[in-house]
Amino acid sequence: MTIVIKDNLFYIHTKKSSLIIEERNGDLLLKHLGRKVESYHFSNTVFEKDHAFSGNPAAANRNYSYDTQRQVFGVHGFGDFRTPSLILQHDNNDLTQFKFKKAKIIKGIVKAQGLPNPHTEETAETLALILEDDLAKLRMIIYYTAYDDSSTLSTFIRFENLSDQPVVLHRALSAMFDLPASNYDVLTLQGAYAREKTVRRHRLEQGFFKVSSNRGASGHAQTPSLILTEHDSNESYGEALALQLIYSGNFQAFIQKNQLNEVRLGIGLNDDNFSWELRAGECFETPVALITYASEGLTDLTQESQEFIKDHIIPKNFAAQERPILINNWEATYFDFNRSKLLKLADEASNLGIELFVLDDGWFGNRFDDNRALGDWFVNEEKLGGSLKDFIKEIHAKGLKFGLWFEPEMVSIDSELYRLHPDWAIQTDKREHTYSRNQLVLNLANPDVVAYVKTVIDDILTENEIDYVKWDYNRNITNIGNGKTYLETQMQSHAYMLGLYDIVSYLTEKHHRILFESCSGGGGRNDLGMMRYFPQVWSSDNTDAIARLPIQYGSSYLYPVISMGAHVSAVPNHQMGRKTPLETRGHVAMMGNLGYELDLTDLSEKERRIIADQVAHYKKIRSVVQFGALYRLINPDAHSNEVAVQYKYDNQVLVTYVRLLSTIEEMETTLKLKDLDEEASYILKETGQEFSGAELMYAGLTVDMPQGDYLSKQYYFIKK
Ligand code: DGJ
Repeated sequence: MTIVIKDNLFYIHTKKSSLIIEERNGDLLLKHLGRKVESYHFSNTVFEKDHAFSGNPAAANRNYSYDTQRQVFGVHGFGDFRTPSLILQHDNNDLTQFKFKKAKIIKGIVKAQGLPNPHTEETAETLALILEDDLAKLRMIIYYTAYDDSSTLSTFIRFENLSDQPVVLHRALSAMFDLPASNYDVLTLQGAYAREKTVRRHRLEQGFFKVSSNRGASGHAQTPSLILTEHDSNESYGEALALQLIYSGNFQAFIQKNQLNEVRLGIGLNDDNFSWELRAGECFETPVALITYASEGLTDLTQESQEFIKDHIIPKNFAAQERPILINNWEATYFDFNRSKLLKLADEASNLGIELFVLDDGWFGNRFDDNRALGDWFVNEEKLGGSLKDFIKEIHAKGLKFGLWFEPEMVSIDSELYRLHPDWAIQTDKREHTYSRNQLVLNLANPDVVAYVKTVIDDILTENEIDYVKWDYNRNITNIGNGKTYLETQMQSHAYMLGLYDIVSYLTEKHHRILFESCSGGGGRNDLGMMRYFPQVWSSDNTDAIARLPIQYGSSYLYPVISMGAHVSAVPNHQMGRKTPLETRGHVAMMGNLGYELDLTDLSEKERRIIADQVAHYKKIRSVVQFGALYRLINPDAHSNEVAVQYKYDNQVLVTYVRLLSTIEEMETTLKLKDLDEEASYILKETGQEFSGAELMYAGLTVDMPQGDYLSKQYYFIKK
């Protein structure tokens, strides 16, 4: 049984974790969130002591204070002085006292309307905890869903205005938990443009720590997630808990350790640029959050999260589909292309065994540079030397699939769309625009704009045989001010996201055979909200293989490897100026979904041979990379000159080892592989050598880098 209600206790069990909540005098108190506890007689003591300057809701009991109880949502105003998870303005104040009314167990999942949700799952079970504030006439329903194949729970909150007056939400987090005091570390995925998803770990001290975005997108510099782990945990030891938000806009994820060592963890919408009015009878639903627990270290957490996302978030038809090896013309040509250049590139790609040709930015309107034409989604036939249909036909005739770049949420001032609808851009009355890449953002909070974007992109996808779409987004949102009132403007950022999800759910459902890859100048919107519709993400504009190692490490920390696009590009690298051997560029890109982004018509014979071998080899190993379990053997932290990763899938094991800087005297590295079958034999494909599982795990595999221009080595084993 997944969800059990016994007396005043609610037990929600997953494969390996439990969430247990107690109802006491109408309050919901967290008894446990962590390792699976099968006992139905859970009666942990809660922290009941008279603490000076804490408020007591019942005069008769000085020991009971909201300030010291572990809760699953937090309100202010009644003696809990920690950061609240909810602020709801009604009458002349924003204090609420929600009291438990009833609970329901629902088969399957309940969906947050208009937002990205995990897939429908009949074997899942949902607990709905229904609370009301009788005075303010407000209802709150907290949903927790457990899945029978996973240690991840999903949760969101619904608010209903039962009064006859409008009320306004100023903060509405999706999940909040007060956890027992302990010696914790916090792990986040932060970074910057071209340096996305840097894994950061620090000790949790008294105070408040928050990662957030107010950019209108999740952003390059932070990920909507937060991991709490035991201070002494490592890849294979210790408990860890991850909160993640299935949302692509403004978010916050925080952790607070107060003066009593109590730890509060929360995730949800950012309250910067957010308010939401609920008129009489209306309701509001928060984005969905995920809660993943692992008991055996950080690799365990990664695998739990990756599997949940693969099985329950990524569009089902692509979660189990091998991804094509692509050539993208961006770093090969930038805007400077014509038909013959593109066809030569496609010819070479096809000769090398590449499977998909992607035509990037510059094929439409007057788009000869990045100062114009966004919004003008009609092909520039002069530049392309004919119609898009004919061009695609030629690409298909070469045995390649065809992919096309779009940036549908944007408009250039110098465009027909802007000349026609200047009011469609996000802007503040009477003030100058703020530019970024010389472009503006369309106001997707306006239903007319949503309808237009849907139609214009749908038409191109319907009229042309397109196999893949790259959906780009190259600036963040400023000048928010399209509302008629301040409140309407405060609602604009979240309304934008609802508009975006309306567009992408419509297009990806209607064109479900098309592989959509999301991009925002690389990983500027690499989050679960986009991944629900877009099975692949362009992880970074930084294509330098060595710089990619920490980016790919962070990108796969919680998200599945199959979501990660990774390309081999030219040397010197266009972003970093570094020269890395082609073999190593290949090995690093093969740690994700392999692609190429360089001028293939300008290769030496040797380079051509190496690439053809890489492509043929990747076709053999891609199932282990894309569907396999990931084990981190050596991480790219500040002190390490090496990175090693293992993948395991069915009878295949792949190990990739990369040295960041070459060393004059080669140091020895021995890698102890993980989770093999001790008794079984593993054949190293390259040499035919046979190893026992026990030998590879306990004695280890000593890296033998060939002499010469090498920085990396790959080992591919098949279990006999
Ligand atoms: C930013 C993307 O990240 C690049 O890959 C490329 O598509 C450019 N935009 C095109 O403008």
